[in-house]
Amino acid sequence: MRFYDLITKKKHGEELTEEEIFFLGRSYVSGEIPDYQMSAFLMAVCWQGMTDREASLLTAAIAESGDTVDLSMFGDRSVDKHSTGGVGDKTTMIVTPIVASLGGCVAKMSGRGLGHTGGTIDKLESIPGFRTSLSREEFISTVERVGVAVIGQSGNLAPLDKKLYALRDVTATVDSVPLITSSVMGKKLAAGSHSIVLDVKYGSGSFMKSPEDASELAEKMVAIGYDRGRQVSALITSMDTPLGHAVGNNLEVKEAIKTLKGEGAADLTEVCLCLATEMIALSMKLDRATARKMCKGAISDGSALRKLEEWIAAQGGDAEYIRNPKLFPVTKHAYEVRASRDGYICSMNTEEIGICASMLGAGRVSKDDVIDHAAGIIIHRKVGDKVSAGEVLATLYTNRDGASEEIAERYLRAVTLSETAPELCPVVLKVISR
Ligand code: URA
Repeated sequence: MRFYDLITKKKHGEELTEEEIFFLGRSYVSGEIPDYQMSAFLMAVCWQGMTDREASLLTAAIAESGDTVDLSMFGDRSVDKHSTGGVGDKTTMIVTPIVASLGGCVAKMSGRGLGHTGGTIDKLESIPGFRTSLSREEFISTVERVGVAVIGQSGNLAPLDKKLYALRDVTATVDSVPLITSSVMGKKLAAGSHSIVLDVKYGSGSFMKSPEDASELAEKMVAIGYDRGRQVSALITSMDTPLGHAVGNNLEVKEAIKTLKGEGAADLTEVCLCLATEMIALSMKLDRATARKMCKGAISDGSALRKLEEWIAAQGGDAEYIRNPKLFPVTKHAYEVRASRDGYICSMNTEEIGICASMLGAGRVSKDDVIDHAAGIIIHRKVGDKVSAGEVLATLYTNRDGASEEIAERYLRAVTLSETAPELCPVVLKVISR
């Protein structure tokens, strides 16, 4: 088989066979297909798309390209979540202890932040001592004892996706529904959980800009999950404004703790409750109303917060920081961004706000940059809020000298004011499931 012929086939919009897709996967991982040929193929997929059968086969090729995690010892109780990424998304640190405190088993692999989006692994590493790298035995035994463990992507999990994603990143071929679907679901299938809840984001901070595109992506991912024997639900949620108030690593850990105390922002609390509800409903085969009541109860009776402490300690983290968040280091500089005039905040360019947080030191511009765990932004006013000239919209935290003024101007440009109150959309638009 020649890969050249497969590129030609895809260029003409023809469907690839199972044999061809697995050949492509194997040969690219082994290095027999060069990047320039794979780039041409990926661009052809962007233009011609893939049939559902092709996307499902590519998902399987990705899932089977390396190691897989066996979670069969947890039966139907193993449950995973995945977010398509955003700004201020600290949901994993809130949702997983809720689910674990109710008897779910969450064995999760998370990523680091890149560009304008944050990553759970960076956030967890802002807790002194927390280990995001565990041996396979430690990972499984932590889930057995505590109900949750979260680690970085293990070495040889879905290597086909690792190579494809790195290439897509530099060839403008990320935003293709079949490629995103197979990338996300391939990794989730390899990670082994029986149930999977997806948080598919749309809006200015997400790569899916409209709810329609996010819904199409979610439908495909749910269908492929069922096709491959898993139970999958997807929430369509807004990333038109950062989630909650904190953007930046230890700032987000502190906000997660506050949310588990029942004092969280309304949008963040709602997304977390909906995600946890789906995870409990799927893994314990309960109706949504019962599952939601249980999740709310885990927050109000303190069991989810206690589970967070237990989990952090189990992975080597200093749980004293969870009990007393004032222990987290703060930055040298705190700079207030003030409104230039009266008005209503009608939109926030969330990607730009993520970039501002990165520039303050909270994120990486390139893969090797070192993160400042204390840097970031506390957003005081969000979409829908009425503000007066001079009112503080946000506080920027940084250890970098002389950076704040330019970043404050950039932040202000990302916030649009209007004379009248904007119409607000619900943060969770819908749930797509079977
Ligand atoms: N996240 C992934 O894991 N893969 C994609 O293709 C896009 C977002």
